[in-house]
Order: sequence, then structure tokens, then C-alpha cells
Amino acid sequence: AEVIIVNNQEEAGQIYARCVADLIKEKPEAVLGLATGSSPLAAYEALAGIVHDENIDVSKVRGFALDEYIGLPLTHPQSYHATIHRTVVEPLGLNPELVHVPGDMLNGAGIENGEKIALAGPAYDRSIAAAGGVDVQILGIGTDGHVGFNEPGSSLASGTRIKTLAEQTRIDNARFFDDDVNNVPTHCITQGIGTILKARHLVLLAFGKGKAEAVAETVEGGVSAFCPASALQLHPHATIIVDAAAASRLR
Ligand code: F6R
Repeated sequence: AEVIIVNNQEEAGQIYARCVADLIKEKPEAVLGLATGSSPLAAYEALAGIVHDENIDVSKVRGFALDEYIGLPLTHPQSYHATIHRTVVEPLGLNPELVHVPGDMLNGAGIENGEKIALAGPAYDRSIAAAGGVDVQILGIGTDGHVGFNEPGSSLASGTRIKTLAEQTRIDNARFFDDDVNNVPTHCITQGIGTILKARHLVLLAFGKGKAEAVAETVEGGVSAFCPASALQLHPHATIIVDAAAASRLR
């Protein structure tokens, strides 16, 4: 992977935004892979800025998000459906009907709907394939090396599927659920590592000291399910954009 060290999130966001804006100019029906979390926020803001300044037509742009909680109504403010619409679809002015989140077809159905949930993963992968695949996938990384909700131990060949959330991830995310871990869903649906690797260009963003270990393992460690992000080493076009703190453990 190519590693770019930047001064701050805004600079990283500009690199992503320039790349995606040029793609959309060339391919108006571009397919964007979207992530939630804090790491991509400056990149989405920068892209919205360029789209408005340069008057780029985004009416045909399509999007596929990485993951979603199981059992939250789509309208729940912490659902990734709502989050992607608030942070990407609205600021960029995308057509909401062209932007998909893996839980959409479950429409808030809970874990008791086992069969429906089992079918939703492969159906999501088929809809990505039917769209011609993802052109640029933006990614964040967890302190344990997770991408999407693929926690350590996830198969590097996995497709979209249901997963149990790691206890640490539920504790980390309790801040979005009235600081009560009991309110955090227990399961999620996430693109697999195999799904993510099919995107034509991966752009992973990581900022801050807390990510330094995971970034070093991803770039310089062995390819291993213990650090799911290390699968980026298998990808022919992966760009890793980090600040100095997140780069501090690289050799
Ligand atoms: C987001 C996602 C997660 C985050 C990761 C980093 O859809 O699936 O893998 O990218 O947890 O989160 P932040 O960016 O908030 O540090």
C-alpha cells in the first residue's frame, strides 16, 4: 500500500475529495464505498465543498455503506442508515435512492429474523456486483485493526454477513447510546473483508496515537485475520492516509 503522511484530517480529506471529485467528473455514475465513524467526516466535508464549488453533477452517483447495526429502526439517529444520510447524502446532495446501507432490506428487523438476515448479506454483495463494483472505498480502522465490523479473527475471504459485536466495540460505542452499553445492539451486518477487497481503490484514513499500533500492524505486520486491515496488503491499489501520530509506530 501507498502510505501518505499528512498534517491533519483536513489535508487527508482534501486528498480523498480531489480523487473522488475527479472520478465523478469522468464517471458520473461512480460507485462510492462509504464508512461511518469519525475518520471520514473531514473527507466528506471536503468532497461536499468541491462538489458545490465546481458545480459537479452528482445526481447519478451511487453509494454502498460498509455496515449497520441489527435491530435498530432505520430512523434511529444512531443507525448507520441515518448516519450516512446525515453525513454524506444530504451534504453532497446525492440521490438517496441510489445510496444503500446493508441493513436497508431488513428495515429494522431484529436478530430473531434469522433467515431474513442470513439472506441479506449475499443479496447486498449481489447488488454491489450488479452496480459494477465499488470504485473508491473509504475506510476507517479500529484500534484493534478492525475494518467495517470485521473484528480480529474475521475471515479475510468473507462476504457481507451478520456478526456479533465485540464487547469492547459495544463499550466503545455506548457513548452514542446514552452511555449505556445495554442500549448498544449486540449484532451487526457488515461487508466482509472479501467484499471490501473487491473495490477498485481503497482509501484508509487513520488519525491519532490510538491508531498507531493498528496502522503499523496493517502496513508492516503479517497478513493475518488477527488484524483484519492487514488484508489491504493483498490489494493492488490501497492508499493509507495518516497523520504523524497514527504513523508514529511505522519503521
Ligand atoms: C465504520 C466502521 C468502523 C470504523 C472504525 C473507526 O463504518 O465500520 O470500522 O471505521 O471503527 O472508527 P473511527 O473513525 O470513529 O475511529
